[in-house]
Amino acid sequence: MTALVELSGIEKSFPGVRALHNAQFELLSGEVHALMGENGAGKSTLMKILSGVYQRDDGDIRLDGQPVEIASPRAALGMGISIIHQELALMRDLTVAQNIFIGREPRILGGLVLDERALNAQAEAIFASMNLKFDPRAMVGELTIARQQMVEIAKALSYKSRVLIMDEPTAALNDAEINELFAIINRLKAEGVGIVYISHKMDELKRIADRVTVMRDGEYVGTVPAATTPMETIISMMVGRTLSNEPSALPAASDAPVALEIRGFKRGNVIRDVSLSVRKGEILGLAGLMGAGRTEVARAIFGADPIEAGEIFVNGNKATIRSPQDAVRAGIGYLSEDRKQFGLATGLDVRNNIALASLSRFTGPVGVLRENAMRETAQGYIRQLAIKTPSDTQEARLLSGGNQQKVVIAKWLLRDCDVLIFDEPTRGIDVGAKSEIYKLLNALAEQGRAIIVISSELPEVLRLSHRIAVMCEGRLTGILPGGASQEEIMHLATLRPSAVAETETNRKTA
Ligand SMILES: Nc1ncnc2c1ncn2[C@@H]1O[C@H](COP(=O)(O)OP(=O)(O)OP(=O)(O)O)[C@@H](O)[C@H]1O
Ligand SMILES: [Mg+2]
Repeated sequence: MTALVELSGIEKSFPGVRALHNAQFELLSGEVHALMGENGAGKSTLMKILSGVYQRDDGDIRLDGQPVEIASPRAALGMGISIIHQELALMRDLTVAQNIFIGREPRILGGLVLDERALNAQAEAIFASMNLKFDPRAMVGELTIARQQMVEIAKALSYKSRVLIMDEPTAALNDAEINELFAIINRLKAEGVGIVYISHKMDELKRIADRVTVMRDGEYVGTVPAATTPMETIISMMVGRTLSNEPSALPAASDAPVALEIRGFKRGNVIRDVSLSVRKGEILGLAGLMGAGRTEVARAIFGADPIEAGEIFVNGNKATIRSPQDAVRAGIGYLSEDRKQFGLATGLDVRNNIALASLSRFTGPVGVLRENAMRETAQGYIRQLAIKTPSDTQEARLLSGGNQQKVVIAKWLLRDCDVLIFDEPTRGIDVGAKSEIYKLLNALAEQGRAIIVISSELPEVLRLSHRIAVMCEGRLTGILPGGASQEEIMHLATLRPSAVAETETNRKTA
């Protein structure tokens, strides 16, 4: 059988970086082919070459056995190749439907006028085929990251391509949404579409992939069947060594003083009377399904959103936090789930991204910036977190997705915060670097910092947390000890307050 796509001997360099060397990849029709590798391995770059975003320096690209040149993303779409990018590339000020059909909107009156009705109807039809409820008129900028991801997927589907590349499509999706996506993938597969699937979530491989190709440092390592290859084999192909499965050494919950306490936080329906506290040296997991209000609580603590009621105490003292600046002054740091909007200054280099939030540390007696100290500090974090970059003066936007995330983490590690809130800290981070980040969070806690971790990956919450606060629909539904089971968390995460209220009323009337 002729391969649908065949890439061989692909070379690609950027100034100071050899991103790909002798890379290869083969995609069959009706196949889901996972592309795996550590952060910076070259996965996105290889797929950007296949989708016309970048031009290769050397190598061979074949479609149906025929050599082709793919000069631009438009040319790729013309050949039936579409890509869902890792970094969402939607226009925030356009509607959902406008984003999906940008550049090919249905028109009337001889092309003069946009046919809004047809546009929205076509978008609705795509969402219906995806089993999703979606308002095509909503502004993309107002959607959550997960919803934006769904719009990207809808857009790619609308092209009815033969080759569909998904670069970390589930990074921001919840379990139900992932199930929807997998159902869509299986449907496309049955229609003969070839799908390239990039993900750092190892458990997804067995569920969705037929074959797995592993890359390391820009090079091809090998291709194996997904079903019969042990996970450890795939991981050691990725990292070039076997990872030890170190247990999470959790010290017993401490009776250290409370570092942060919130009482009666309220904001509309999204935060309904939430009170919680975290002690020095404690890691508090904040679990819940997407939309449970975890990020909203974090943002409210950080002063990014106003609250209607509630009090906050830092180290026992009542604090007034009306803005992120206030929060940082009070010793609270927040690593946001959306590194693009907050956190990363994409135009600045790695060094400044890490150091800027802690400038006072690098200011000498007469206000002179100690550049050497900044450089050394940045380089220290680059080593510690294995940030893949040619130097600390590389612009952050040129780093791979996972490495950008590491830069933001380094920035907050450097800032001397008493309380640190990490929202999805390992999103897009490869397996090896994940355990590095876990170790760092443990170390920070041991130094006496109070840490709140929000994560949609339950194993991560369980591994890290001394206690786990669970939310559902804006309300705190319970607090569990560290050793809790996934089932206990899921029970509280689905304990809908409306249902609770009903049983309470029933009890009262009974
Ligand atoms: N436009 C660019 N300019 C300079 N370097 C780049 C550019 N794009 C990618 N790189 C570099 O090429 C290498 C491969 O990056 P790529 O984005 O392909 O990695 P990846 O495997 O997708 O990683 P991740 O899992 O973190 O998304 C990295 O070292 C990255 O910094
Ligand atoms: Mg990538």
